[in-house]
Amino acid sequence: MGIATITTITHTMDTAMIRTDETGTDETGTHRLPATSASLLVCRGCCCGTNKHPDVDHDAQVETLRVAVAEHPRTRLYTTDCLGPCERSNVVVVRSGRTKRWFGGLLGVHSTEALAEWASEGAVGDVPAELEPFEFTPEAHG
Ligand code: FES
Repeated sequence: MGIATITTITHTMDTAMIRTDETGTDETGTHRLPATSASLLVCRGCCCGTNKHPDVDHDAQVETLRVAVAEHPRTRLYTTDCLGPCERSNVVVVRSGRTKRWFGGLLGVHSTEALAEWASEGAVGDVPAELEPFEFTPEAHG
């Protein structure tokens, strides 16, 4: 399964490489932002973000996540076409380095706000307890 075409970029950041240790301090002793960064891939394909879930304000969900991502200089948000596991719509993938965490069934305000809070903190490290029920491992498609 390939990642679908990214259709929208709502936040970009200088990607210059600065070597730092795990505290974000470089060789000159200057504290810099950590090198890690996360991307939120918000599915807006055939099922996610559509009338399949008529009681959900899908635009508000994207806006909530967009605002949260903008609070952290190393996170980005993209909307994508279908990511594959439509039965779990709405799907968001949080990609950090080589790690991809899949979240599905993000249809409620509370789950969106939990993801937004995590995103505003960089969306790295442990998944917040509020989001754990929504995390899943996608089946291989082929
Ligand atoms: S439309 Fe979102 S996974 Fe298919």
